[in-house]
Amino acid sequence: MNDPRERPAHPGAEDGRPSGHDGPAAEDGRHVPGGRSGPAGDAPEGLPGDLRPVGSGEPLVVVEGVTRVYRTGPKEVVALRDVSFEAYPGELVTIRGRSGSGKTTLLNQIGGLDRPDGGRVVVAGRTVTELPEAGLLELRRDVVGYVFQAFGLIPVLSAAENVGVPMRLARTPVPERERRVAMLLSMVGLEKHANQRPYELSGGQQQRVAVARALANRPRLLIADEPTGQLDSQTGRQIMLLLRAVVRSEGVTALVATHDPALLTLSDRTLELRDGALVPAEPQPAGVTA
Ligand SMILES: Nc1ncnc2c1ncn2[C@@H]1O[C@H](COP(=O)(O)OP(=O)(O)O)[C@@H](O)[C@H]1O
Ligand SMILES: [Mg+2]
Repeated sequence: MNDPRERPAHPGAEDGRPSGHDGPAAEDGRHVPGGRSGPAGDAPEGLPGDLRPVGSGEPLVVVEGVTRVYRTGPKEVVALRDVSFEAYPGELVTIRGRSGSGKTTLLNQIGGLDRPDGGRVVVAGRTVTELPEAGLLELRRDVVGYVFQAFGLIPVLSAAENVGVPMRLARTPVPERERRVAMLLSMVGLEKHANQRPYELSGGQQQRVAVARALANRPRLLIADEPTGQLDSQTGRQIMLLLRAVVRSEGVTALVATHDPALLTLSDRTLELRDGALVPAEPQPAGVTA
């Protein structure tokens, strides 16, 4: 269980679609052009993706003693209590916890969408919690890719145009943008759907577009907040397998909030939040609490 090496040959092959053309074109997610050299950056050349070391080297994400208190009128809600952990390149970490346990709040501190009341977050060497607004903009554009539960695609744009949006914002030259959009759509198995609008796609396909869009600017960190929350369990599993293939092939770190127990087996590591505090996700010696 939780074996990072256990994975199907085709991350998209469980779609149940007869055509068989909707799975990621990059078999195994390994030979994806434009990817980084390897998950850990120091993996020996030619080593199959499933034999590469996972979670090695310097941490990409460092969370230290993060606390967030929401104050609405006289009421105080402690959404995060002294949360600390690290995540490494090429690692898929799931964050679980029931609704209201602080998952979204935690992801928002890491992605620079919110600021904590205490503690520190470092992502790819940047101290997120000290960045000025311009630095946060750059972080959100260049370093972090987001996937949300509700897909968040722009309805009037085609799948290809949606994937291209972050590159437009980053002023990527048109030829490079078009090349990467095509590569990303093929990676998520949607090359045949490039010109369709979101409403012409299934939920699972829309989320695939969202994953491709999140990867547009080659982020080092992928943040996914309940990415399977609006999908049936089979499609949700597909998206999770896709995320895992991407983590391996692009060498990114992924933080995925979910409360679906079925998906936890697909992650390298699970963090559990309870009332804003990290608690051991699996049986550990007594007295070990975060
Ligand atoms: N903007 C906000 N203002 C006030 N309270 C909030 C706000 N966002 C979240 N909360 C509260 O913080 C706690 C954690 O919420 P959240 O991070 O959304 O949890 P989860 O994503 O695990 O469901 C909950 O008690 C929630 O009601
Ligand atoms: Mg949430």
